[in-house]
Amino acid sequence: MGGVKSMRIIALKGAGGVSMLQEETVPVPQLKPGQVLIHVRAAGVNRPDIAQRQGVYPPPPGAPAWPGLEVAGEITALSEVKDFTIGDKVMALVPGGGYGEYAVADAECLLPIPANMDYVQAAAVPETFFTVWSNVFDRAGLKKGEVLLVHGGSSGIGTAAMQLAKAFGAQVIVTAGSAEKCRACLSLGADCAVNYREQDFVAEVKNFTKGGGANVILDMVGGDYSEKNYQAAAIEGRIVQIAFLHGHKAIIDLNMLMRKRLLHTGSTLRARDKAFKGAIAAALKRHVWPLWQKGRVLPVIDTVFPFSEVAAAHEYLEAGGHVGKIVLKLT
Ligand SMILES: NC(=O)c1ccc[n+]([C@@H]2O[C@H](COP(=O)([O-])OP(=O)(O)OC[C@H]3O[C@@H](n4cnc5c(N)ncnc54)[C@H](OP(=O)(O)O)[C@@H]3O)[C@@H](O)[C@H]2O)c1
Repeated sequence: MGGVKSMRIIALKGAGGVSMLQEETVPVPQLKPGQVLIHVRAAGVNRPDIAQRQGVYPPPPGAPAWPGLEVAGEITALSEVKDFTIGDKVMALVPGGGYGEYAVADAECLLPIPANMDYVQAAAVPETFFTVWSNVFDRAGLKKGEVLLVHGGSSGIGTAAMQLAKAFGAQVIVTAGSAEKCRACLSLGADCAVNYREQDFVAEVKNFTKGGGANVILDMVGGDYSEKNYQAAAIEGRIVQIAFLHGHKAIIDLNMLMRKRLLHTGSTLRARDKAFKGAIAAALKRHVWPLWQKGRVLPVIDTVFPFSEVAAAHEYLEAGGHVGKIVLKLT
């Protein structure tokens, strides 16, 4: 790391609005065995960063206090790590601390950056692709020929889910909140896009699947969507909850759950241990890395903000007009 002792970060000065995000200089963190230090060139901005800023999503024990769940850059130091070396260009899932000039990552949570991806694209990969792989493929077991329904199809998570599902031979229905977002999803490969402000997604799923329903539903909405998801699901359907933008309490129809033999599950990624995240990284390396390398699947970048404009990046994400990912670029 060339003797660098301090670094700029975006600290949180308390819970609240974007004024809580303030640049600060802190010591470069010390590595523990099995960790690498990354000179960060770009960092992804995710909706959980907003929740952290608002004080409702604290970092797990041991994670840095400042936000940021994914970075891309070069390794500048490592401690007892075999598979990577200084100078390697990597993307990393981190439990926090991505908004800084340097970030510490567990070696298990690194992936090499394919030659066709720049740092901005690479920084937009880990949080969404780890989440989608773990929930749609591992947990829900989406198979070739099945139908995936993705709520929030134009989100960072949604654009990754849609592309991966298509690449693995599934059909994809998305919901999105405007005609423009629906058009963007169709151009990214969705087979059917439902503008939920104008159309009933249950009826549209039934229509598209000729009454059969969706085999897998990736849901970040919850609340009133939960019962509708049961209606839209196929027999033996799997519903995976990754967030609850409409609330974490719901009325559900247990009769439908039983009659359709549904599985309703959910997960969070950030607090899981490095062995769990490492297993996802290994699966991504094996099954998805070749797709990134060939450009068949690539993160969708909406807007890149300079590091110093992190507040504007948060405001932009919260306004909700984006399609895909928002990334901070460090100079
Ligand atoms: N469980 C996990 O491990 C995990 C990991 C990562 C992310 N997440 C969650 O996954 C969700 C997507 O993350 P992201 O970073 O991809 O976010 P994002 O790009 O901001 O996407 C959020 C999407 O939700 C839709 N939406 C529906 N109802 C909404 C509401 N009431 N308020 C705001 N948006 C609403 C928006 O699209 P429309 O305009 O179409 O409504 C938007 O596309 C977030 O809730 C995040 O916390 C979970």
